[in-house]
Amino acid sequence: MLETEEIGKVFKGKAAVEGVNLYMEAGEAVGLLGPNGAGKSTTISMISTLLKPTSGDVRLNGKSVTKDPGSIRRVLGMVPQEIALYEELSAYENLKFFGRIYGLSGRALEQSIGQVLEMVGLTDRQKEVVKTYSGGMKRRVNIAAAMLHEPEILIMDEPTVGIDPQSRSHILEMVRKLNKEKGVAVLYTSHYMEEVERLCDRVYIMDHGKVIAAGTAEELKSILSSEETILIELDRAYPDFTKELQAMEAIKQATETENGIKLIVPKGSRVLGSIFQISERHQAQVLNVAVQTPSLEDVFLHLTGRKLRD
Ligand SMILES: Nc1ncnc2c1ncn2[C@@H]1O[C@H](COP(=O)(O)OP(=O)(O)O)[C@@H](O)[C@H]1O
Ligand SMILES: [Mg+2]
Repeated sequence: MLETEEIGKVFKGKAAVEGVNLYMEAGEAVGLLGPNGAGKSTTISMISTLLKPTSGDVRLNGKSVTKDPGSIRRVLGMVPQEIALYEELSAYENLKFFGRIYGLSGRALEQSIGQVLEMVGLTDRQKEVVKTYSGGMKRRVNIAAAMLHEPEILIMDEPTVGIDPQSRSHILEMVRKLNKEKGVAVLYTSHYMEEVERLCDRVYIMDHGKVIAAGTAEELKSILSSEETILIELDRAYPDFTKELQAMEAIKQATETENGIKLIVPKGSRVLGSIFQISERHQAQVLNVAVQTPSLEDVFLHLTGRKLRD
């Protein structure tokens, strides 16, 4: 449905975005993950026609967006990084203002406002002035404004930054519902890998203006390694248990840790059953078993040598 073709943006002779190719199918939830300054906002500003690419193009259903910006504006809702609301007006009044910008009026506008307020859970407080709202509530008004014209695609630029954990979770859940239940395609920009992982079917990882990796979270993690770590927590040390695990073909490495045993096994190996059998034989009391797979954070670290949140 939507794709970018080698889009690039140069600011004052310096490339902020370079040769970015990404695509999005109808109804998909796509994540754009990268640290501050990676070029995420610049990329989505080009997609939403707020910025003109220095090179490349954006296509909506095969047609050039730079040639016909109106085509994408009709189907796209944008939630910008900065919250832009009239503090002295109520949520309802703000939405009325934004709705008019989208060309909505009269009954259609009233109906839309009612729907989006319901969706973001602000129906009860719609008459209160925005300056009395928490950061999370303001963000919800922002999202509501982007949804007024019932877009097919919603682009969100770091919508949970600076927002308390409870509102954050509320926002994530709302976005998930919009995507899964209403079929709205979502392009979700963040530097929080766990949000992207929770919401998105596919992920692009950006750094220094370029896409450095793309795929499902599973695919991205599989570039990392072909191994998994299993941590067995025990009530005390059982040297013989450890030795027997070390001797197992399916286990690459077994080492004693402070509170148990750490195993390195090939990815997807089914060793848990045998581990429990052996533990019983040694009458070892297993308090907990945790299988650790790499996170997207680990993938980023592997690709760049840096952490996402530096
Ligand atoms: N309007 C602008 N003028 C000059 N430089 C800019 C402008 N917007 C962004 N940049 C630069 O482009 C790079 C990418 O920025 P941005 O797209 O905002 O990254 P992100 O959203 O991933 O944090 C940064 O180095 C930033 O300083
Ligand atoms: Mg940004």
